[in-house]
Amino acid sequence: MIFAANLKCNHTRSSFLEYASVLNNFLKNRKSCENSDEIFVFPTSSAFLEGDFVFNQGAQNFYPVKNGSFTGEIGSEILDEFGIKTVLIGHSERRALGESNEFLKAKFEFAKKNGYKIIFCIGESDITYMNASTKRFLKSQLEGLDLEYENLNLAYEPIWAIGTGRSAKISEISEVLDFLRTFTDAPLLYGGSVNLSNISEILSVKNCDGVLVGSASLDVNNFINLINYKKG
Ligand code: 13P
Repeated sequence: MIFAANLKCNHTRSSFLEYASVLNNFLKNRKSCENSDEIFVFPTSSAFLEGDFVFNQGAQNFYPVKNGSFTGEIGSEILDEFGIKTVLIGHSERRALGESNEFLKAKFEFAKKNGYKIIFCIGESDITYMNASTKRFLKSQLEGLDLEYENLNLAYEPIWAIGTGRSAKISEISEVLDFLRTFTDAPLLYGGSVNLSNISEILSVKNCDGVLVGSASLDVNNFINLINYKKG
């Protein structure tokens, strides 16, 4: 299973150092049979860590260049310095800041050219959901992307479920992931108010290969409890 923590604009460099060390110790001491899980953490870029960690450190954002005159942006040279080989693309919170499908496609192509693992996020608004246009909309968000890219993971995150405490229903997650499976063999994740009380049901959905977690991952012990959900 894939467990991904998107820390968004939370944690300082020093608090993330503590977070990473607790998580790393937990993962190092797991039984080897549990180590087939893939663990990703996306900290803020000022908290990127150097060194060897058992989890994959990823970037919440980057600009599709190696370096150059792009004020305030983060190019691949900067990610390389931290050994970061995983990127999040298409999160609705970045789309809301103006990242268009065209721009996301450019980020995707750049990440693919450089061999990065991609977690590509898609998800509909509450209005699209209420209009029963979810599938059509999700399909449009995938247009022009190489869905056969070997390092692709696709995350379905309905916008109305993010940070609201109201996850999508299991039947809805199941229907959407079955739909997405018709386009790609990439691992499929669900995100949107995943917590300890719903993770087990969500991960039992046939085409669900993992979760992308915001709020419930901010406390490292909560995130560890999610990874340990079978023991709960
Ligand atoms: P929440 O888990 O807080 O709903 O956030 C989900 C998310 O946006 C992960 O990328």
